[in-house]
Amino acid sequence: MPSVSDLISKGRLKQILRHYSEAFNVPVFVLEENKRLFLSFPEGVPEQELLIKPLLVRDLPVGHVGVPSEEPKGLDFIIRNLSIILEQGYEIESLSAEVVRNYEEFSLLWSLSSKLASVLDVRKVCEITANEVMNICPSKAITIMLVEKISSDITSTIRQPSLPTVDAGENKGVLSAKVSVGEYAAEAINMTLNTEKGLVGYVFHRKEALTLCDVRADKRFEGFPYPVLRILIVPLIVEDKAIGVIVVTDKLNGEEFFSTDIKTLSNIASECAVSVKKASLFSEIRSMLFSTAEAFSFAIEAKDPYTYGHSKRVSEMSVKIARQMGLTGDISTWIRLAGLLHDIGKIGVPEEILCKIERLNSDEMSKVREHPVIGARVIECINNLSEVAKWIYHHHEKYDGSGYPGGIANGMIPLPSRIIALADVFDALTSDRPYRKAFAADEATKIMKEAVGDHFDPDLFEYFEKAMRDWCHE
Ligand SMILES: [Fe+2]
Repeated sequence: MPSVSDLISKGRLKQILRHYSEAFNVPVFVLEENKRLFLSFPEGVPEQELLIKPLLVRDLPVGHVGVPSEEPKGLDFIIRNLSIILEQGYEIESLSAEVVRNYEEFSLLWSLSSKLASVLDVRKVCEITANEVMNICPSKAITIMLVEKISSDITSTIRQPSLPTVDAGENKGVLSAKVSVGEYAAEAINMTLNTEKGLVGYVFHRKEALTLCDVRADKRFEGFPYPVLRILIVPLIVEDKAIGVIVVTDKLNGEEFFSTDIKTLSNIASECAVSVKKASLFSEIRSMLFSTAEAFSFAIEAKDPYTYGHSKRVSEMSVKIARQMGLTGDISTWIRLAGLLHDIGKIGVPEEILCKIERLNSDEMSKVREHPVIGARVIECINNLSEVAKWIYHHHEKYDGSGYPGGIANGMIPLPSRIIALADVFDALTSDRPYRKAFAADEATKIMKEAVGDHFDPDLFEYFEKAMRDWCHE
C-alpha cells in the first residue's frame, strides 16, 4: 500500500489543507506512516501537542492527520474528506500503473510476435522465446520442452477420406527439451519427461500454469538434473491441445514467481505455441514435398538399374558442394530439391531410349536432350518452384556455352545449375554402365578436372573436390 506522499503531490495537498485550515480556523498537520511531518498548513507553525488519528485509504493506513490537541476542531471531517480524495488518487495511480503494465506487455508481445512471424524452424522459435523469457525474467534455467510429434495431425488436415484417422490423444508420451538457456542449460537440455507423470506432466495434462516457492514440498516434483527451489511451468497450448511447456526455475534475484510472471509468460507461451505449430506443419509439408520428389525420381530411375538412386546421390552431393561454398538455409534446401528433380523430365523420354544399351542415334539423342526442358515445364506448374524449374532447365549447360538447351555460358548459367552439373557428372562417372565399370572417385575427379573451364566452372571445382573428399570419407 502506498503512503500519503505517493498518493498526492505536496502542492495539491497544500491547497486542500488550506481549505480545512480556513474552514475550521486551526492549523492542520499531515504525517507520514512513521509519524514524521509530511506537510502542514500554515507551513512552519511551531511544534505543539497534536491530537492525531490514522488516515485510511481502503481501510489501509497511509499516514496520519493531526490538529492541535487543545483545539481539535474538524479532525474527523478532515480525515473522512481527505481519505475520499486520496482514494480517488489511489485509483488513478493504480489505473495508470495498470495502463503502463499493459502497454509494456503489449510491446513485449508485439516485439516477440514480430520476431517469430517469419521463423519456420521449431528450434529457432524456441530459442527466440527462451531468450525473450530470460530478458524479462532472468532465471537459472529456462527450458522449452515439446512433445515428440507436434504436427501429427497434419495428415488429418490433408487426409483423404479412405485413410485412417489420427488419434486425438496422439500427443501423449514424452516431452523433450528442445532449447534451454541459463546457468543450468547444459543439464536441462538433456531432460526428457513423461507427459503423464510428475509436476511437468501435471501442468501439461491440466493445461494450466503452475508455480511453486519450494518444489521440495510437492511430491509431484519429478526431480531435475540440476538444483531447483522455485519453479514456474507454463503450458504451450494451441487449438486447445498442449504441445509442450516452458519451465523456468529460480529467478536470479532469488524472488518467487509472481502472478504477473504467470500472466506474462502465459501470453509469451501462446505466441510461442502458435509459431511452433506453424513451423512444425511447415517442416512436415516440406518433408512430404521431398519424399514425393524422391519417390518420383526413384520411379523414373526404376526403369533403368544403372541409374537407380542417381538423383538422390546428385542431390546429396550438390548440397555438399553448396555447403562447402557457405550456402546454407533456404538456398541449400532448394538445391537439394533441384538435385532430386533434375532428371524428372526423363518421364517424357521413351523408355526404350532411356534403357538402350547401344549408342544412341542423333534422333534418340535429341529426345534425351529434351529432358531438362520437359522437367522445367513440369516443375514450373508447382507454386513457388519457378526458380527451381529454371535451375533444372539449365543443368546440362556447359561453362563454355557448348551445353544445352540454352547454350549459355559461365555466369549466365544459374549457380545451382553449375553445382548440379558437377554432382551429375561425378555420379555418372562413379556408377557402373553397361559398357564400362564405375570409375573410382579420384579417377572420376581427374577426368572432370580436364573439363574445368570447358564443361565446369573453375571457381566451383575446388569446392567440388572438398565435397568429394567429404563424400568419400563417409
Ligand atoms: Fe540430366
